[in-house]
Amino acid sequence: MNLQGKNILLGITGGIAAYKIPELVRLLKKAGANVRVVMTHAAQQFVTPLTMQSLSGEPVRTELMDPEQESTMGHIELARWADVILIAPATANFLSQMTHGIANDLLTTLCLAADSEIIVAPAMNHVMWRHPATQVNVETLKGFGVQFEGPVPGDLACGETGQGRMQEPEELFVALQHYFSQSILSGVNVVITAGPTYEAIDPVRFIGNRSSGKMGFALAEAFVRAGANVSLVAGPVSLDTPQGVKRYDVESAEQMSNQVSSLLSGCDLFAACAAVADYRVVDSAQQKIKKQDREMSLQLIPNEDILASVAGEGNPPFTLGFAAETENLLEYAQAKLERKKLDVIAANLVGAEEGGFGAEKNALTVVWNEGKVSLPMQNKKKLARELVDIVARLYLQKKNNTENYRLIQGLK
Ligand SMILES: Cc1cc2nc3c(=O)[nH]c(=O)nc-3n(C[C@H](O)[C@H](O)[C@H](O)COP(=O)(O)O)c2cc1C
Repeated sequence: MNLQGKNILLGITGGIAAYKIPELVRLLKKAGANVRVVMTHAAQQFVTPLTMQSLSGEPVRTELMDPEQESTMGHIELARWADVILIAPATANFLSQMTHGIANDLLTTLCLAADSEIIVAPAMNHVMWRHPATQVNVETLKGFGVQFEGPVPGDLACGETGQGRMQEPEELFVALQHYFSQSILSGVNVVITAGPTYEAIDPVRFIGNRSSGKMGFALAEAFVRAGANVSLVAGPVSLDTPQGVKRYDVESAEQMSNQVSSLLSGCDLFAACAAVADYRVVDSAQQKIKKQDREMSLQLIPNEDILASVAGEGNPPFTLGFAAETENLLEYAQAKLERKKLDVIAANLVGAEEGGFGAEKNALTVVWNEGKVSLPMQNKKKLARELVDIVARLYLQKKNNTENYRLIQGLK
């Protein structure tokens, strides 16, 4: 994969393997990547900022409390600039800081502020690596969606042998190439709905639901990462728009439906992640309804089923639906897949102790006509990436079959 023009933020921490990083920078620059380097204080004992500056062609940043750089909140800018952050080598100390959200220097602070992927390449003595504290940190970080490259077994700088060697610069270079090669949906137009809808009762009250929008937003981010052009139709949520996503805010199911319709022409893949209200209030009041000493009832009428109507179009896009159920998960998901004529459905249990609405984590069972796969409980961002990987493959499979079919038709 071409690294030309990719923005790579390289964090160097205080491990002996730091001496290998100049070679990695050389390889990245040769491939046309933009490289900015941030070093911890300890890292500067192993390799100099001057070396890194000369090779990267950019000033190296080492301090958080830098009045000049921070006049424009440099650490946030740097975090946003990066397409990917690679920490190599990553010390045991750094992994521990990151696990606990410690932000006491530039590198730890910007990792906490980053919404791009973080890849770490640990390097340490094998006993340090095996220590339960390190292993717990590694598992926690994986749960946060941090990607690990190594460490690998071999001879260590301390003279011992074991698992703790940093991957070689060439291997880290290939890992970065691999990271960017995931653009399998390049040029594909994706429309995603996310969050709840609010159905007005009067100007101040509404019927809503507990959807936080986190899964839909994570999905939007994952689709962008896979190279797609993403339009996100969001119900009322308080979430930041992921980088590269075109966002349309709506409130009610009707507004969501209208917005989706306006985006459908040219849409290749539709992902319905929003928890759209099934019903709306008949003639919601124009003025606030006053409290009265008697029972009151609301008359509800069904909303349009956005997903079913998109999937039922003459030439529908590839459709991904979601099923949030409190029981009989697979059975209901399978039924919904068939009833709404979807290509694939991602089902999750809500109301359970872990996962579901509002939670940071979730687990999904992905079902399509010819198969199903379970994705275990994990951070929603990581889960979204795994889901997009499956959906992209199914989408491309269907598209290629269709194109082959069209080709054969054309030859006749
Ligand atoms: C010569 C030397 C080599 C070191 N090598 C490593 C190493 O490979 N991995 C590691 O986790 N720590 C190593 N350390 C310990 C770290 O430098 C130390 O934990 C430091 O606080 C890390 O700071 P940082 O994570 O902010 O860069 C080494 C220390 C010394 C003195």
